[in-house]
Amino acid sequence: QSTLADLARRHGRYFGSATDNPELTDTAYTALLGSEFDMITPGNGMKWYATEPRQGVFDWTAGDQIVNLARAHHQKVRAHTLVWHSQLPDWLTGRTWSADDLRAVLKNHILTEARHYRGKVYSWDVVNEAFNEDGTYRETVFYKTLGPGYIADALRWAHQADPHAKLYLNDYNIEATGPKSDAYYRLAQELKAQGVPLDGIGLQAHLALQYGYPATLEENLRRFSRLGLDTALTEVDVRMLLPATEEKLAEQADWYRDMTRACLAVRRCVGITVWDWTDKYSWIPAFFEGQGAALPWDEQLRPKPAYFALRDALA
Ligand code: G3I
Repeated sequence: QSTLADLARRHGRYFGSATDNPELTDTAYTALLGSEFDMITPGNGMKWYATEPRQGVFDWTAGDQIVNLARAHHQKVRAHTLVWHSQLPDWLTGRTWSADDLRAVLKNHILTEARHYRGKVYSWDVVNEAFNEDGTYRETVFYKTLGPGYIADALRWAHQADPHAKLYLNDYNIEATGPKSDAYYRLAQELKAQGVPLDGIGLQAHLALQYGYPATLEENLRRFSRLGLDTALTEVDVRMLLPATEEKLAEQADWYRDMTRACLAVRRCVGITVWDWTDKYSWIPAFFEGQGAALPWDEQLRPKPAYFALRDALA
């Protein structure tokens, strides 16, 4: 039987999954991870706390393990992420920085990490989650110390280090049009006008049944295409209030189907990645009490209605 990756490839798209290092000892898990998908994202292994745990001291163990596993299975890698306000090392968050010093730290981090993975990754989420819900800049250490120009700088440094990687800005709650998504649209316009190397916008798509489906997804993907940008659904899951009932699982399946159709309808929507594939390793239950069952396979690694809906949309 064909895999999701096979089906997606017929449309010129990829179908990917996130994974995380502790899960890689689970052989039933890695068997499906290695066969069903053609794109892999490290869920944590390439984040700043993991790759530069002490200033200027780099550790590629976690990221390399996932890149090597992906290579062994002829899978590409969406690398995640160079600049994010979360999961930063203590040496960076535990003090105040002058603009000059933080700029040098940021530049060194981006150049060193992107050079290490140069030629080995398909794309980079260069800056992750830069905006607030109302479309204002998130007041991260980078924004507060360096101003909004840190985003263009980060893209330029990433491009210098790995000229062939596709460079993305990535965020959640930007699937529908609205203030946060509009902020990306405007920023992307500005960056393109200034010749800053930006290739795509990543829509994380961490959806929740109780908040409603982002009905303007396709229209939103289309406007970014018109700017000459790729788009991707980068961290898809559809959580629900537990317990999962047959009805909720059917609605979840419809959402997975609709999201996939929206991506296929827009030429420059290049692929879809689920934020891990089985409920066994989903981040949701630990972050949202009483919620879960967000992925296309259940905790016993059995396919759910959402999996069959994905096949259906890709068929
Ligand atoms: O490494 C420690 C371990 O030593 C400790 O024993 C354990 C106890 O809680 O925690 C481990 O750290 C956890 C880390 O994942 C690695 O497993 C953190 O507590 C946990 O908070 C962290 O969660 C990650 C989350 O980002 C942090 O915000 C999730 O795994 C990861 O899937 C999630 O991914 C993010 C994307 O990067 C960006 N978009 C949103 C998405 C979901 O939050």
